[in-house]
Amino acid sequence: MDNLLYEAKDLQYSYSWNQKKVPVLNHLNFSIKKESFCCFVGPSGTGKTTLLNILGLIENPTNGKLLFCGQDVFQNSERQKEKLRLEKVGFIFQSFYLIPTLTVLENTIYFLPSLGYSNQEAERAGKEVLDLMGLSEHLSKKPLELSGGQRQRVAIARAFAKKPLVILADEPTANLDSDTSEKIIRAFKDLQRNEKTSFIFSTHDQHLMSYAREIFHLKDGAITKKDIL
Ligand SMILES: Nc1ncnc2c1ncn2[C@@H]1O[C@H](COP(=O)(O)OP(=O)(O)O)[C@@H](O)[C@H]1O
Ligand SMILES: [Mg+2]
Repeated sequence: MDNLLYEAKDLQYSYSWNQKKVPVLNHLNFSIKKESFCCFVGPSGTGKTTLLNILGLIENPTNGKLLFCGQDVFQNSERQKEKLRLEKVGFIFQSFYLIPTLTVLENTIYFLPSLGYSNQEAERAGKEVLDLMGLSEHLSKKPLELSGGQRQRVAIARAFAKKPLVILADEPTANLDSDTSEKIIRAFKDLQRNEKTSFIFSTHDQHLMSYAREIFHLKDGAITKKDIL
C-alpha cells in the first residue's frame, strides 16, 4: 500500500450553526496514489475547499480517518501535523494569502529557512521557481504592485519552492487568462514528471480537467462518481 498518498475512510466534516450540526462532507471513502494528477469538481458550496483543507492538514475532520503516506494523521499531535505539512505539502489557496509587506522573492522562499535552507540556497531556489513562473522581473515588488494573475503565480511559486510531495491547489486557474493558464498547467505537469510531485486540485476549468487522470465528482458533500482517464 506504499504507493498510496492518501486514503480517506469514512471522512466526515460538519459545523455547528444555531445549535444544529450542518454536514459539509459525508462519509467520504477514496484513495489517491502517489504522483497523481487529479481533481475534485462539483458545484459551489459542495465542500471542495473544505476537503482540500483536510488533505492539507489545515482542518481536522469531524469524524473518520485519513492516512497520509500510511500515517493516521489526525491521531498525530498538532506539532507532528505541522511538521508533516511543512515538509510534504504545498498549498495554493484560492485567495493566495501572500504577505503584503514582503517582496515576491521573500514570499516565495518564506518556508525554506524552516526546512533547513541557508539564505543563499533559499534565494537560489526561489529565483529558479519565479523564473519558471515568468516573474523574474518582479522579484522585489510587493504583492499589491502585481496583477491578480501575477499574485497567483507567486502563490504557485511559493508552493513549488520547497519541492513538496503533494501540491494542493484550490481552483488554481480561476483567475488566469488562457495563455497563462496553459503555461501553469504545463509547469504542473513538468513538476509531476520530473519531481514526482502529486497534484490535487479543485476546479471548474474544463481545460485543467482535461489534463487530469482522475476526476472525483462531489455533490452535496459526497463523491458521486470517479472518472479515470
Ligand atoms: N466552519 C464552517 N462554518 C460555517 N460554514 C462552513 C464551515 N465550513 C464550511 N462551511 C460551509 O460549507 C459549505 C461548503 O464549503 P466549501 O468547502 O467552501 O465548498 P466549495 O469549495 O465546494 O465551494 C459552504 O456553504 C461553506 O460556507
Ligand atoms: Mg471553494
